[in-house]
Amino acid sequence: MASELKGRTALVTGAGKRIGREISLALAGEGVNVIVHYSRSLKEAEELKDEVAAKGVKSWLVKADFDKKEYEGLVERAAAATGGIDILVNNASIFPMSRLDGITLEGLFSNLRVNAWAPFELTRDLRKLMKKGRVVNLIDSRTQGYDWSHVEYILSKHLLAELTKMMAIEYAPDVVVNGVNPGLILPPPGKDMDYLEKMDSTVPRKRHGNPKDISDAVLYLLKSDFLIGEVINVDGGRHLMEYDRGPHPD
Ligand SMILES: NC(=O)c1ccc[n+]([C@@H]2O[C@H](COP(=O)([O-])OP(=O)(O)OC[C@H]3O[C@@H](n4cnc5c(N)ncnc54)[C@H](OP(=O)(O)O)[C@@H]3O)[C@@H](O)[C@H]2O)c1
Repeated sequence: MASELKGRTALVTGAGKRIGREISLALAGEGVNVIVHYSRSLKEAEELKDEVAAKGVKSWLVKADFDKKEYEGLVERAAAATGGIDILVNNASIFPMSRLDGITLEGLFSNLRVNAWAPFELTRDLRKLMKKGRVVNLIDSRTQGYDWSHVEYILSKHLLAELTKMMAIEYAPDVVVNGVNPGLILPPPGKDMDYLEKMDSTVPRKRHGNPKDISDAVLYLLKSDFLIGEVINVDGGRHLMEYDRGPHPD
């Protein structure tokens, strides 16, 4: 049985741009009120807030820099301002380059804090405060292998993948936790589409995806009444190529 999303309220982290923006608009299209979280992208977040509201639902802005631990109290703050949160989409992330030989404990901590700890703490707080809800974590299909160019990042996403399963068990059935593993969707900030197109041939589907592929999967998980701890690979089959733990650059 599909759950009705209309009238619920969602907190989407890192919502102002790119995939987070697409997810926010898709939720609004389903009649969901959206709390637009941002850290630096105030202008984009304000524009998104207006676009969400134009779809006939409520919209609010919340600012928090997870690197400064501002995830602490965020759920409480957002719920107080909006009357409650039913859905949490943990989308915010950092994606710095790092090779194994160059990683540092500080760099690892920073990735862990934003990419794994913040989603965990927000989910834990949602459960404490709201007692029930639905959560989707944006992970990465390369957690089935390695990303040798973003080692600190991929280690943090491996942790998020494990936390997703552990929270799914521990918090069920009241808080339902699932995940999406995006593959090649958008080039990292600062790179153009050539970056993705060069890699298209490595994907069984022979092309990259788009943000709507991700928002479709998020909606599917949120509407399902029986999926728990499920992580959907939305990657054109790329995860199937990770059986050897990803091509080593050397
Ligand atoms: N793009 C892809 O092809 C791809 C592939 C695999 C996995 N994913 C995953 O899918 C999700 C969305 O991807 P994306 O490429 O759209 O993400 P993104 O553009 O790299 O980042 C999303 C948002 O995260 C927020 N963020 C960054 N640092 C933050 C901090 N310290 N505190 C709070 N928020 C912070 C930023 O918000 P502000 O702009 O407001 O600062 C940013 O706009 C991510 O979890 C990503 O790891 C994406």
